[in-house]
Amino acid sequence: MFKIVKREELVPSSVILHEIHAPRVAQKTRPGQFVIVKATETGERIPLTMADTDPVAGTVTIIFMVVGKSTALFASLQEGEGYADLIGPLGRATDIEKVGHVVCIGGGTGIAVLHPIARAMKEAGNRLTVILGARSADFMILKDRMSALADTFISVSDDGSTGKKGFVTDALQETLALGKPELVVAIGPVPMMKAVSEMTRPDGIHTLVSLNPIMIDGTGMCGGCRVSVGDKVKFACVDGPEFDGHAVDFDGLSQRLSAYKEEEQAAMEIHRC
Ligand code: FES
Repeated sequence: MFKIVKREELVPSSVILHEIHAPRVAQKTRPGQFVIVKATETGERIPLTMADTDPVAGTVTIIFMVVGKSTALFASLQEGEGYADLIGPLGRATDIEKVGHVVCIGGGTGIAVLHPIARAMKEAGNRLTVILGARSADFMILKDRMSALADTFISVSDDGSTGKKGFVTDALQETLALGKPELVVAIGPVPMMKAVSEMTRPDGIHTLVSLNPIMIDGTGMCGGCRVSVGDKVKFACVDGPEFDGHAVDFDGLSQRLSAYKEEEQAAMEIHRC
């Protein structure tokens, strides 16, 4: 069992943080990599990118939103309880190097995925602009940690309850008007990553996105996580999860992500009963 040593509700009943004892994973993980967790022996395998690791304490931190049966099951796990399985680190780590000005854009729980990448980019000596977006102040997670890393910090929300009212693309437009960054990293909902990639395409600004398609084995064997990137089929679990945002087929990704919506809803209904 992989024991939960800390549990926090970042958004009550909705966005949950679990710090999990997994020493070997904590020691090997690099920014951008993910784990696959199962609540029970026969449970669904869910990929989650780590928001943080502590090699000394031997822990990894995951942050997830309750969106279906499996994440509802995860959310019910308390400190002292644990996951039946935790596999990782999986996927390719982010290329961290000093490139100059890096704009890190996070939306929703994508902010958790962005956190270790933004920290590593800062430690590598880059100038960091951080743009965070959420539907409201309640859903703006890790704001203090992310603003502490940033040379320039902008937050936006759909309802204006935190930061400026608007979308991350509004803040990106303002940032681009001041000069062309060397790199943009955008992690969040698919429409957000697509919109950011379209904004940076005309100027050819290198743009990385982190994809979270349906995964099963996480080792490149099942094909469940396939995505179209340029004219090639890639497997997010071994070729990603990060890809060039200008080459990703976001519409195809959206279709695949919603392929099991009915089954997911039915499973959630049964879980509630
Ligand atoms: Fe099976 Fe990627 S999850 S190939």
